[in-house]
Amino acid sequence: MKQFTNVKDIGPLNEALHDAFEIKKDRYAFTHLGKNKTLLMIFFNSSLRTRLSTQKAAMNLGMNVMVLDVNQGAWKLETERGVVMDGDKAEHLLEAIPVMGSYCDIIGVRSFAGLTDKKSDYEEKVLNQFIKYSGRPVFSMEAATRHPLQSFADLITIEEFKTKEKPKVVLTWAPHPKALPQAVANSFAEWMNATDYDFVITHPEGYELDPKFVGKAKVEYDREKAFKGADFIYAKNWSAYTDPNYGKVLNTDRNWTVDTRSMALTDDAFFMHCLPVRRNMIVSDDVIESEKSIVIPEAANREISAQTVLWRMLRSL
Ligand code: CP
Repeated sequence: MKQFTNVKDIGPLNEALHDAFEIKKDRYAFTHLGKNKTLLMIFFNSSLRTRLSTQKAAMNLGMNVMVLDVNQGAWKLETERGVVMDGDKAEHLLEAIPVMGSYCDIIGVRSFAGLTDKKSDYEEKVLNQFIKYSGRPVFSMEAATRHPLQSFADLITIEEFKTKEKPKVVLTWAPHPKALPQAVANSFAEWMNATDYDFVITHPEGYELDPKFVGKAKVEYDREKAFKGADFIYAKNWSAYTDPNYGKVLNTDRNWTVDTRSMALTDDAFFMHCLPVRRNMIVSDDVIESEKSIVIPEAANREISAQTVLWRMLRSL
């Protein structure tokens, strides 16, 4: 595998899940594969889970790991071509990327949406420049429009916890005080649409996602209807996608917080969230602390999704 930025890159999901569960059975079975190979993880944005789980995954495979926080200690990088660089950005991405590529074998990149220019965000400018100019296999550690390592971990988790062949999975918008990208929601929808689950998206009017990601999902504006009979509730906030409100917070209505009252409508559903989560905005204390909350095993599976992707990339070097 030479790149991992979306669900198509992983190929058939049954094969990806097979690899993931084999790795989970014995995550140290392939320590020889990464010997003398180096992973460079580049963060333009903060992280807890992605940073730790991906580093652990690489170490499980015997790799060396380097981490660069672009905004802490590195030269500030210009990303646009044609800019007269007389400001505070000392280096252009077009030199920095091949230099970084020369020090490693595989590159992971985290670069969030700016939420001011939809066209630029949805072109995935930063991620695509790494793919084009690094000369190395590149994987997304959350880009402007998708978070595939998270979605892969989410899929692994649903497969582990489901009690019926085709569970009802509901992606629900939930309130948040700050504008967040659509990446996790887009990506989750993309991966769920690649399964044969009964997949429903619910959100207030104005929070419609890019139709490309909504795909064949049922969109239900009435959250009570959406929650009825659900086996998994996947909560996430996102800012508006639709013009002229791109990147804006349209409401913070706490009637959309996932609480015990709304979970009671479901078929005893599991609660999921990618974390970090704002308690009593996105989800009540009671729900996230309940025995139906699987946010911790979900986060733990980030190590498995990352290791599966790295394992495949190492095998194709
Ligand atoms: N879910 C997730 O990607 O967490 P971090 O932002 O902490 O990496």
